Amino acid sequence: MLAGTPLKGQVALVTGGGSGIGYAIASALLKAGATVIICGRNEEKLHRALQTLSELGPTQAFRCDIRNLEEINALADQIQTHYAGLHLLVNNAGGQYPAPAENITPKGFSAVIQNNLIGTWNMTYTMATRFFLPARQGVILSIIANIYRGFPGMLHTGAARAGVENLTKTLAVEWSRYGIRVNAIAPGIIDSSGLAQYPEALKQGLTEKIPLRRLGTPEEVAHLALFLLSPYAAYITGETIYIDGGQRLWGDLFPLV
Ligand SMILES: NC(=O)c1ccc[n+]([C@@H]2O[C@H](COP(=O)([O-])OP(=O)(O)OC[C@H]3O[C@@H](n4cnc5c(N)ncnc54)[C@H](OP(=O)(O)O)[C@@H]3O)[C@@H](O)[C@H]2O)c1
Repeated sequence: MLAGTPLKGQVALVTGGGSGIGYAIASALLKAGATVIICGRNEEKLHRALQTLSELGPTQAFRCDIRNLEEINALADQIQTHYAGLHLLVNNAGGQYPAPAENITPKGFSAVIQNNLIGTWNMTYTMATRFFLPARQGVILSIIANIYRGFPGMLHTGAARAGVENLTKTLAVEWSRYGIRVNAIAPGIIDSSGLAQYPEALKQGLTEKIPLRRLGTPEEVAHLALFLLSPYAAYITGETIYIDGGQRLWGDLFPLV
């Protein structure tokens, strides 16, 4: 963890901050001195997270679906009212389901693209035009996935995350003139609430296929996120950093059905 409170005075929005990796990132940001806003669709989940996060520092939670531009604009209005600004955006919200390509219908494909790619752009576009571009500052960080060798077993999210990785590079160049940094983190298999939803059969023997022979933790992803969001990473932009125990280089992602 970085020493001191390098993010004191910074306001951060973490999408999907009510659980798993997003919750761990929200905790790390609070410990680093930031004020944190989390959002998600499930109000009960947000409320539970808010109770424990608030013990670490100033936190607010808002219901907001990243697929819904009206809700995103309402969230931006709330941020304007309560904080007059936003400094950090973490695009963490997302979801997908494992299936062989031939079982992913165009409807299922479109649903995952809508959430993981279009939702990420909805949020990035809105927060950047409302806050980052006018203030000529900001850091954007997106959580994608291990797409180094495609994404066998989850074609839809592979396509969506590849889109986010590409827009990360483009935005890093285009918005450098506004002093905005844009990066992504590509987690391998992380032992978090998202993974818990996958069928047990799919998770058998997973650690044997990872060079470091274990799953990652949400806290490990949060440490990397904290670094990339902090001034310690002030000269890093347009990068996707893998945190996967070496799995992009060797071993299966998930067993193919
Ligand atoms: N765990 C892994 O191994 C792994 C690996 C690579 C990438 N990832 C990605 O990392 C991110 C966090 O994963 P996790 O494991 O922590 O899973 P998780 O607990 O399911 O986190 C996903 C979060 O996103 C929110 N969310 C999903 N769709 C949303 C929407 N349309 N609008 C607003 N919020 C939405 C969910 O809250 P609501 O349901 O309340 O909306 C939830 O809090 C996800 O994007 C995931 O795909 C995870």
